Parts: sequence; structure tokens; C-alpha cells
Amino acid sequence: MHAPRLQDLEPSVQSFLDDVLEGLTEDEKRIPCKYLYDARGSRLFDAICDLPEYYLTRTELAITRDRADDIAAHVGPNAALVEYGSGSSTKTRILLDHLDRPAAYVPVDISRDHLQDAARRIAGAYPGLPVLPVCADFVHPFDLPADLNGAERVVAYFPGSTIGNFGPDEAVGLMAGIAEVVGPGGALLLGVDLFKSADVLVPAYDDAAGVTNDFNTNLLVRINRELGANFDVEAFRHVAEFNEAETRMEMYLVSEREQTVLLDGVEIDFAAGERVHTEYSYKYRREDFAEIAAAAGFSVDTLWTDDRDWFSVQLLVAD
Ligand code: TRP
Repeated sequence: MHAPRLQDLEPSVQSFLDDVLEGLTEDEKRIPCKYLYDARGSRLFDAICDLPEYYLTRTELAITRDRADDIAAHVGPNAALVEYGSGSSTKTRILLDHLDRPAAYVPVDISRDHLQDAARRIAGAYPGLPVLPVCADFVHPFDLPADLNGAERVVAYFPGSTIGNFGPDEAVGLMAGIAEVVGPGGALLLGVDLFKSADVLVPAYDDAAGVTNDFNTNLLVRINRELGANFDVEAFRHVAEFNEAETRMEMYLVSEREQTVLLDGVEIDFAAGERVHTEYSYKYRREDFAEIAAAAGFSVDTLWTDDRDWFSVQLLVAD
């Protein structure tokens, strides 16, 4: 079997450098979270998903498995499934196994290696299903492959509560873009992590084995390798805090000592204890998320959750 053909829009090294330089020269330093997912980052994130503390993946998987028939009935027959991110093949397979004659599977991911691996695995397991991978930063509009094998409905699939990694306004913007991609009557099936106590949240984002620390600090490993910087990775540490008022987890890399890093000829100073923001993860109350969906041009069709009400899988329909 030959590899699925790839539509390649992976961002250039230049835009990576521009984004990192811009973020590290602000008063409150930051690095965009999309760069966490190089090949090693994607592997470490897969390891996070298996951690005992990281309830998200397990809970979403259980909801998807338990409610697969009902989800498939709401999605309908002959749909093209467009997955935003391709790192979740177990959940994807459950869907594909239950959907009524899916027309095509279109994984969209910023990490070309991870995307191609995932696309090959799905293509191998579903011989009759057209697999049409698109390498792109899905925050920006991208074109769907022209031939979707006669799909009757385009259904975007966005699991993992990745929507929570965008601020509320950005989430509206991204989802409004998805509404355009799927078109009127199209749908968005997505995972949304729900508001809960810090006792559960903080360990999920700062595990005992230190995998999350490796995942977050891998950003600096990547910047050293791809952009030729000289970060002393050992001198930075991962920190996770729950900001209850903003209903979000906040992730940082903290400089353990005063240091200067050289990036593309620019000297960047870090004070001892200074933090670099890398990611937010919003935890929504149902009613707050419904407002975001509405602002993006979607109505909540169905919401599935677990016994503890920790996580939700929601089917939204574009107006
Ligand atoms: N999408 C994941 C989430 O919000 C990303 C994530 C998990 C993450 N753990 C992290 C990002 C630690 C940065 C640091 O759950």
C-alpha cells in the first residue's frame, strides 16, 4: 500500500522564529502552544494521555465508546469526517467503526510526521475509506480536498478539549472558521473539558512522573535544535496553576536562575523565577460554552457527559 497523498501547508522555520522572537521580547514572555507538537512533543503528549492523573483522554474515550451508537445516529450517514488534529486515533476509530458509511476521513495537523503516521494507520485499518491528510495550522482557514467522495455532510471532529487551549474570543473565531468549512447544516463534534475543582485539575497538568515537565520543556529543546538557540533546558521547570476566576489552567516555564539566552543574534534576559507562558486550558461551564458556540454560528444539538460531569462530548450544528 502506498502512503496517503499529503496536502502540505506546514509552517516555515521563519514563521516559527518570528513567533518565538516576538513572544520572548514581550514584557510577559510567551511562546505559542502550537509549537509544543513536534515529533517528540507529540509522543510526549501521547504519554500524558495515558497518565493516571490526566483524566481527560480516558473520560472522553469512555463517553465516546459508551455513546457511540447515539453519536453516529446524530452525525448521520455518508459524512466526511474532518479531524482537527490527528493524535487521537483510538477515539477516531470508535467513530469510524460506528458511523454509517463514512465518505472520507480528513486528518488536519501541524506536525507532518505525526499526521502521516496517523493517516497511514487509519488507511491501513480502513481499506475502503479515502484518507485525505492536510498538513496545516488549522487556526487559519484551509481548503478541504476537492473530492470528498460524494459526502452528504461535512462533520468536523475536534476531540481532546483542544478548544480549551484557545481564549474565549479565539475559540469563537476558530469555531466560526469551522462553521464555514462545514457549511450550513454541517456539524462540529467536539470534546469540551468542564469546570471542576483544583484538586483534580492541578495534578492532571503536573503529574508525579514528570512527563508534563518534559513535554513543556521540550519547547526549549525544539527551539535550540530548529532555531539554533542556546537555552539551558535544565534551568527551566514546568509550572501549572488553576486560575479559578478565569476558569483556566495556566502553564508556564519558569527560569530557575538569572540567565541570558541567545536566539538569532538577540540576547534575551531571564530573571530568577521569571516565567514564560506556554498554554492556557479553559474549563467551561455548560452554559458558558453554549454561548461561545452561539457566537460562532452553532447550536448545541446534543451533549454527552460522564457520571461525574467532568468532560463533555458535544455535537454542534452550523446555522
Ligand atoms: N490540550 C491539552 C490540554 O489542555 C494540552 C496539555 C496537556 C498541555 N498538558 C499540558 C499543554 C501541559 C501544556 C502543558 O489538556
